[in-house]
Amino acid sequence: MDNLKFFSGESVPLEMHKVRMVQKINLLPVEERLKCISEAGHNTFLLKNLDIFLDMLTDSGVNAMSENQYAAMLQADDSYAGSETYYRLEKVLQDIFGMKYFLPAHQGRACEHIISRMLVKPGSVALMNYHFTTTKAHISMMGGSIEEIVIDEARNVESKELFKGDIDIGKLNEAIKRLGKDNISFVRIEAGTNLIGGQPVSMSNMREVSKICRKEGIKLVYDASLLTDNLYFIKMRDPEFKSVDLKKVVREIASLMDIVYFSARKLGAARGGGILTSDDNLFLKMREMIPLYEGFLTYGGMSVREMEAMAVGLQESIDMDVISQTPIFVEALCNELHAKNVKVVTPPGGLGCHIDANQFCPHIPQSQYPAGALASAIFIASGIRGMERGTLSEQRNEDGSERLAEMELVRLAFPKRVFTLSQVKYAADRIAWLHKNRDLIGGLEFIEEPKVLRFFFGRLKPIGDWPQKLVQQFRKDFGDSL
Ligand code: F0G
Repeated sequence: MDNLKFFSGESVPLEMHKVRMVQKINLLPVEERLKCISEAGHNTFLLKNLDIFLDMLTDSGVNAMSENQYAAMLQADDSYAGSETYYRLEKVLQDIFGMKYFLPAHQGRACEHIISRMLVKPGSVALMNYHFTTTKAHISMMGGSIEEIVIDEARNVESKELFKGDIDIGKLNEAIKRLGKDNISFVRIEAGTNLIGGQPVSMSNMREVSKICRKEGIKLVYDASLLTDNLYFIKMRDPEFKSVDLKKVVREIASLMDIVYFSARKLGAARGGGILTSDDNLFLKMREMIPLYEGFLTYGGMSVREMEAMAVGLQESIDMDVISQTPIFVEALCNELHAKNVKVVTPPGGLGCHIDANQFCPHIPQSQYPAGALASAIFIASGIRGMERGTLSEQRNEDGSERLAEMELVRLAFPKRVFTLSQVKYAADRIAWLHKNRDLIGGLEFIEEPKVLRFFFGRLKPIGDWPQKLVQQFRKDFGDSL
């Protein structure tokens, strides 16, 4: 859908698919929404799906699957060892990425576990454009740490920079000089950089980083979980690739890397994960760990049915009509919100629309989790479940003090090909109402705070009775509407 104009001049994200299987969703009255989020400790991870209208928590494992993916699941070969399904998937991956070896793992973080176990020595540093929560946790668990070397513009919520996920080459060179190459466990590039708003990395940047890593003998690892969004932006924003075949773009990216890994809950629209490499040595080291931590080498902890769906999903992902769907819907919601004065991360990225909670609720200090409070308020106002991506998602410093996040975002994710334009308009409408009444939103404080990845299971309570006031205002403005 990269070449379609409406006569009206309107910019409309057009669905390049039709819906042939549906799931009924519920929109509870606002009073019940308040009850649900209170019972969930104001943590959207703890809500029950039955109580949610639009689940925009994540695109992980909840993407719409094609008829061909479902059909492929029926021909899965259940053998413990030597499954035909594994060889079919291996062939597809080798064909798309042009890499020699494929190691299966049960999801993205399992790949991160294996890679960190192999490459991270205590005291070493992994350099990366930006961390992802599970990546950082696995590197820390092995006694290493991370350093982010993304370009400064990445931290600007509103920007005109087209590739905000790029690594700052100056920072990379400086870090290598300062730390010494032997103290660097690896350099990691994350496609469609998640925590800064699904922002892409340019090919020219990957080429340059790869050249430096090869010269220095530092391993370059590519997190391809959000590859398809990144591919779309390379095609749309870099004139060099306008008419280059998508597969050629993927092959070039892979040729620059020592290891490529992915969450197939995102890439390939199934559930699972995998690691690719062409390096015999790395392959042999990782191969030892797969049966120990994941499962036998020909399933790696995955269901063979998911592996069949993944093989088809990956092949179908090499198609602009398929991979454009998330970015154009993200852009549509960003544009609707922007028009209503709600600040969102720009340029619109992949994965989801990211609302800037610091600008939405400037009266809430970061220590009272503005993004967490906004995610809770959005659920009360709309029944939409988003995800906090701010201070709550950080881990405390060793002395127990809060590590304040660089950005306070609420992510409204777009599972691939799941939501329609009217649902986007509903989201924009309710969020615009909330923005008008933003002074009513207050902060949150922990009542139960886990030590690791606290955002998953932590429970919080509102500071004051702002949720009740929000409900009263909703009733005043919307009458008996849901
Ligand atoms: N890398 C990136 C860039 C991710 O976005 C994720 C997951 C992972 C690794 C871990 O993969 O979930 O299969 O273990 N992101 C999900 C999200 C959870 O909601 O953004 P996983």
